[in-house]
Amino acid sequence: MTSASSANSTKPPIGVYVHVPFCAAPCAYCAFYKAVPNRAGIVSYLEILKNEWDLRYCGEPIETIFFGGGTPSILSAKQLETTRRIFPDELPFLKEWTVECSPLTVTRDRLATMREVGVTRISMGVETFDEKFLKILNRRQTLGQVFGAYELARSFSFDINLDFMFALPGQRLFHWEADLQRAIDLVPDHLSTYCLTLEGETPFVAEYRGKIPPAEHGWENFHRIASELLGAAGYEHYEVSNFARPGKQCLHNVHTWQMHDWLGVGPSAASQYGGRRFRNIADLDRWMAGIRGGNPCEEDVCAVDANLLAQDIIIFGLRTRGWIHLPKNMDALCQNACRQLFETWCGEGYMEHKNGVYRPTEKGLLLADALAVEILRIFDKQWWREAESNRRHKDFQSSALPTELSRRWEPT
Ligand SMILES: C[S@@+](CC[C@H](N)C(=O)[O-])C[C@H]1O[C@@H](n2cnc3c(N)ncnc32)[C@H](O)[C@@H]1O
Ligand code: SF4
Repeated sequence: MTSASSANSTKPPIGVYVHVPFCAAPCAYCAFYKAVPNRAGIVSYLEILKNEWDLRYCGEPIETIFFGGGTPSILSAKQLETTRRIFPDELPFLKEWTVECSPLTVTRDRLATMREVGVTRISMGVETFDEKFLKILNRRQTLGQVFGAYELARSFSFDINLDFMFALPGQRLFHWEADLQRAIDLVPDHLSTYCLTLEGETPFVAEYRGKIPPAEHGWENFHRIASELLGAAGYEHYEVSNFARPGKQCLHNVHTWQMHDWLGVGPSAASQYGGRRFRNIADLDRWMAGIRGGNPCEEDVCAVDANLLAQDIIIFGLRTRGWIHLPKNMDALCQNACRQLFETWCGEGYMEHKNGVYRPTEKGLLLADALAVEILRIFDKQWWREAESNRRHKDFQSSALPTELSRRWEPT
């Protein structure tokens, strides 16, 4: 039992993220922090995870838990049971507990333990149903294993998300449509569709940079098809990469996108907690040594003030279909500028509004990154200085957006 084992319900609720940094056979495209596990390493990791929790947690009600990775389902049933002891004995406010799983590690034992400890939701990396592309991605799963894992998880009545990737090397739109159709046939509660990103120093980058043809492979077309097919099948496109059946959105992600606090534990986990943002070091040994010594190795540390929070509420809000409430305590000048921009976007069909709140339309959602660039300019102090001087010349024009979005815009 932790020192803060009984949640203090007067504090705002938090989400909890646990990074489980182990993968049996790392995939060539993936830049998430992970290590190949051994038994002793996992035992030490679990022990230090509990220490980190006790060091950081301040007793807020816990609304959501998300175990991400790496591959959390690589933990044995007994180890999964141990993870429940990290948190307070009672979790009266918990609405959702997700565990990311690779199809190869989904077993009856593990699922039974997850059910017992209170897991409600399984998120599984399917990526594609096409064996040719599974091979390109060097995913070792067979389709039989994927369908078997899905049916097994269903038999335990978990809510289920399936992850897919698109814009794979050589993938055409008809391949993607076929993947989506097979996914729809399984009737999962939730689907995440990610554009393949060539990330960092991964082996995939070395092999494919500059070799994946654009043209019809423009990610907008893949996104549009996903939106159309999944929309027709009853899935709400509630975030750029996420689709859910009614009532089945990922509450943990929604909580984070709305910029409510979350506490992340484990190597590489990020947090927004106690008025700060920080990221644990992405190195298992150094993370363990830091926690053992009572001095966690943190990176990208910054204080969270009202304007930073407002900026990110808007930017992440532009990626979801939720209504954006401009926070009252943000800088008045920035608030005015954002409202003005939102009104312009409403006129252009990128946003819609209702009683003083705004949200992106489907058309706006697909341009979320470009819209975000404009918002960042509003919050960028340097940009304000330049805009002020340009105002005098009356020739400021946005350069970061597609032509159809460029406009003369100046602060009022
Ligand atoms: C932590 S993994 C999922 C769980 C488990 N490790 C697995 O692979 O089955 C999270 C998801 O991120 C996505 N992903 C990983 N690397 C990616 C990349 N380079 N580009 C796009 N999506 C990626 C994949 O869809 C993957 O399922
Ligand atoms: S995609 Fe999943 S299994 Fe593959 S390396 Fe990344 S986290 Fe590990």
